[in-house]
Amino acid sequence: MFQMDLLPEQLGDLPSKQEIAKDAYLINGFALPNQATLLADLQHIISVAPLRHMETPGGFIMSVAMTNCGTLGWVTDRQGYRYTTHDPLSGQPWPAMPNSFMQLAHHAAIETGFNDFVPDACLINQYKVGARMTLHQDKNELDFSQPIVSVSLGIPAVFQLGGLSRSDKPIKLALTHGDVVVWGGESRLKFHGVMPLKANCHPATGDYRINLTFRKAG
Ligand code: SIN
Ligand code: FE2
Repeated sequence: MFQMDLLPEQLGDLPSKQEIAKDAYLINGFALPNQATLLADLQHIISVAPLRHMETPGGFIMSVAMTNCGTLGWVTDRQGYRYTTHDPLSGQPWPAMPNSFMQLAHHAAIETGFNDFVPDACLINQYKVGARMTLHQDKNELDFSQPIVSVSLGIPAVFQLGGLSRSDKPIKLALTHGDVVVWGGESRLKFHGVMPLKANCHPATGDYRINLTFRKAG
């Protein structure tokens, strides 16, 4: 009886966190408490630095629309993948990273054992139905000792986390509104991607999925 009385209370206090691979974690719903502020801050960023479909070095147009906030923003064009201080569309610096974004990323990292994560870059990805992200490594950053914090908003997606070689079979994770994935340490350079998005609708984002990827790039 004693155990049964205690259990629901204990569960209520525990964040729903699971280790999905070595040094890689899924924290379900971690972004939910601050979602109103996050979404308002996101709207502002998109109004200043609009989402756009970038071109890969090989000449393909990405199905995911992107923008950035923070002192560094990730871009791709025919010249290659890199970080820039300025939005190539406007010639202006990328919008500053809102405090709500910074706090969320920092606290998600602490929750998973990365205690001093201070991101300088936030890539904002917008997926419509059919959009996907093929398996890739995040390796344009200078310091691989810092993790990646990835926040999912809006309609669900299937995230893939593979190994250190492209041919390693990935695990698949269903990500929904408010979920946060953190990968660092031995998983920092693992291949990852997103399966083609299925049609759906979410009150926060309509027909879209939005992903915020926080990194220490510089
Ligand atoms: C990415 O790897 O850049 C995006 C991951 C995601 O959208 O969940
Ligand atoms: Fe990535």
